[in-house]
Amino acid sequence: MRVREATDDDLPVLRAMLLEANNWTGEERFTPARLLADPHAGRYLAGWRRPGDLGFVASDPSSPDAPALGSIWARPLPAAAPGYGYVADDVPELSMAVAAHARGRGVGTALLSTCVDAGRARGWRAVSLSVEDGNEAARHLYVRHGFVTVGRNGGADTMLLEL
Ligand SMILES: CC(C)(COP(=O)(O)OP(=O)(O)OC[C@H]1O[C@@H](n2cnc3c(N)ncnc32)[C@H](O)[C@@H]1OP(=O)(O)O)[C@@H](O)C(=O)NCCC(=O)NCCS
Repeated sequence: MRVREATDDDLPVLRAMLLEANNWTGEERFTPARLLADPHAGRYLAGWRRPGDLGFVASDPSSPDAPALGSIWARPLPAAAPGYGYVADDVPELSMAVAAHARGRGVGTALLSTCVDAGRARGWRAVSLSVEDGNEAARHLYVRHGFVTVGRNGGADTMLLEL
């Protein structure tokens, strides 16, 4: 598996993974069109890549033309237009997903480790995220990387990793 920094051209990959993250239950809660039109969900990728955005894409180097295996990205969102896992204006909010067929093989672990290391190298003080109740695979991954629950937003925990 190869993990590389996301570029401007990776917006379609990130959109596909934002859809996976929002549809993590396996039900189609969002269609691609509805996700694009949703003002709250849209904040995670509107204007990608703004200053402060940081993302990574995982792929299979033996199948260069195959779709990406997964992606992760983080961006600071302001209190006036926050994401679901808002903690502070200077704490980027993280989003990630791995394609369904590629889960359980360490792709999520590699993406999260890479993004956390890169955020630390950039001087971020912390990263946050939102994980819905019942998403045990994601929660397990976050806890294993040191994220702790710092709040609630609807049916989800807000988790924070201090860097
Ligand atoms: C969460 C997600 C990104 C993890 O990616 P992945 O590539 O499968 O992750 P890894 O293979 O590196 O690790 C998965 C870990 O979760 C564990 N896991 C898997 N299913 C689990 C479950 N139902 N309950 C608890 N742990 C679970 C695995 O055992 C593994 O832990 P381990 O390495 O300590 O054994 C992936 O499941 C996914 O894309 N889910 C849908 C989108 C999503 O939920 N995004 C996050 C929104 S907050």
